[in-house]
Amino acid sequence: MDRVKFTQMKDGTPEEYQFLTEHEVAYTKGTASRLLAALVDLDEGLSGYQVSRLGHSLQSATRAYRDGADIDWIVSALLHDIGDIYAPYNHDEYAATIIRPFVREQCTWVVEKHGDFQMLYYGHHVGGNQHKRDAYNGHKYFDDCADFCERWDQASFDPAYDTLPIDFFEPMVHDVFSRAPYDPAVIRPGEREALQNAGLAGQRAE
Ligand SMILES: [Fe+2]
Ligand SMILES: [Fe+2]
Repeated sequence: MDRVKFTQMKDGTPEEYQFLTEHEVAYTKGTASRLLAALVDLDEGLSGYQVSRLGHSLQSATRAYRDGADIDWIVSALLHDIGDIYAPYNHDEYAATIIRPFVREQCTWVVEKHGDFQMLYYGHHVGGNQHKRDAYNGHKYFDDCADFCERWDQASFDPAYDTLPIDFFEPMVHDVFSRAPYDPAVIRPGEREALQNAGLAGQRAE
């Protein structure tokens, strides 16, 4: 079989669905590469800043890496704005949806809410609510999202910063997206890892 015969899903046979599942599994293995390619596409988007969207993403991830953060944090920082391409009005939710099966719940929540938390830095300049993040006061990941924005997101628009190249992060993206989806050992609901690891910060090889 090189393609199914049905024209409506309800008419498919078990063999056809087995065939499609095998195709899907093979296609899924390419997710990391497709995301990395999409990240490069970001480079063409959203001008006006001193760094491109790709530059901002790489700079955020570089800062996470240099803070000694773990791989879930680094990949989350790298992909946090990937939604800018197709979902300019909810880019945070879009990115969170992509990473949710493969990273800790803590990181997904932070990526999902980072847009609201970022308002702290510019909301008052654009007639928005600077304190939108207050809606999450008391949430177990509130401080993590506040730190993520302060240390990695709002800080990463500096063209003079020594940003690591995309090749550096490529193996990490492959590692994360080759995990079993929704593995409880990865998601670890409610558990928190620090954004900064004093033992590793500044010590990592580059
Ligand atoms: Fe963002
Ligand atoms: Fe960002």
